[in-house]
Amino acid sequence: MGLRVVQTGFAVLVLLQCCFAYKLVCYYTNWSQYREGDGSCFPDAIGPSLCTHIIYSFANISNNEIDIFEWNDETLYGMLNALKIRNPKLKTLLSVGGWNFGSQRFSEIASNEQKRRTFIKSVPPFLREHGFDGLDITWLTPGRRNKQLHTTLIQELKAEFAQEAQSGAQELLLSAAVSPGKIDIDSGYDIAQISQHLDFISTLTYDFHGAWRGSTGHHSPLFRGQKDTHSYRYSNTDYSVGYMLRKAPADKLVMSIPIFGRSFTLSSSETGVGAPISGPGIPGRFTKEEGFLAYYEICEFLHGATVHRIPSQLVPYATKGNQWVGYDDQESVRSKVQYLKQKQLAGAAVWALDLDDFRGSFCGQNRPFPLINAIKDALSAA
Ligand SMILES: *[C@@H]1O[C@H](CO)[C@@H](O)[C@H](O)[C@H]1NC(C)=O
Ligand SMILES: *[C@@H]1O[C@H](CO)[C@@H](O)[C@H](O)[C@H]1NC(C)=O
Repeated sequence: MGLRVVQTGFAVLVLLQCCFAYKLVCYYTNWSQYREGDGSCFPDAIGPSLCTHIIYSFANISNNEIDIFEWNDETLYGMLNALKIRNPKLKTLLSVGGWNFGSQRFSEIASNEQKRRTFIKSVPPFLREHGFDGLDITWLTPGRRNKQLHTTLIQELKAEFAQEAQSGAQELLLSAAVSPGKIDIDSGYDIAQISQHLDFISTLTYDFHGAWRGSTGHHSPLFRGQKDTHSYRYSNTDYSVGYMLRKAPADKLVMSIPIFGRSFTLSSSETGVGAPISGPGIPGRFTKEEGFLAYYEICEFLHGATVHRIPSQLVPYATKGNQWVGYDDQESVRSKVQYLKQKQLAGAAVWALDLDDFRGSFCGQNRPFPLINAIKDALSAA
């Protein structure tokens, strides 16, 4: 009898370990609510068990305190955190920073001891009030001048969280997202130091290739391309992850997989990798940004398009007329997950939930979130 209980307990333990071993960290963006028609995404569209962590992007900092960005952010925070009623294991974090926020604003706060204290002190009550489990810092390209400040900010946030938890509450989580390039890592981040204080750190392994290169290329290849010489040899997921692993333990590192593509307008009849371009691709119907297509917009684009795979980089691209898009599909995300498992990383991060076919109406897969579900399936496969 006693033995049966022990055996059952053991079986349950093994079962739990099997499926929660890897993190699947999913970003949700505050601006996706404003997309037109079927592009408009609210947090209640998210399956509560799709991801292990959801990160709401982005919060503002005003008067040196963490603050809402959108007039209705608090409603959206509530919708997001309500997912935990249906999945109590789900963890939610709030992110500050991002591409538009700018390094300068972080720098101003972090460089002044009093402002920094004010910011750090404002975080736990704000997170608790809105039902979040942690904070994510997305300070991109801090640069040499701010390298130490980035570390100090993270160190002191961690200390504050530890102290706040002495009242008996579950300690708040702390994570950071970092630029993936070797040059940005070297100049701006003390990866070895910060990874000691973080629950996880994600390297944003995408946007490696853009219209600035003057030719087509995949923005999130798993491996180096044949034409990537000189400093471009660092511009791939494998290099970034390998470089991070020299400084951070694998079990803290989360690798990003983009749920979007980067597109170009071809300027000749050449359509391969490295073909000349006249600029970024035309905007998507919903996301309306040059050179950028959500996965669900790519599903539409694929009707009548020609799909190729880049064998050495394990990612696809598609062409139609004078448009060229490099993206990820179910096959490439499986390769990426296999790779991160081989490296024994902590898991995958996806940018972003609202770029997948969240209604299940665009990609003909008969289920919502086909790409993120493919990642989830691959993570939990033996
Ligand atoms: C969402 O947050 C970002 C912060 O990165 C901000 O720039 C933006 O104005 C917010 N809202 C919209 C609708 O974009
Ligand atoms: C974000 O904070 C800055 C600095 O305080 C402020 O100027 C800006 O209006 C805030 N943005 C929003 C949308 O509240």
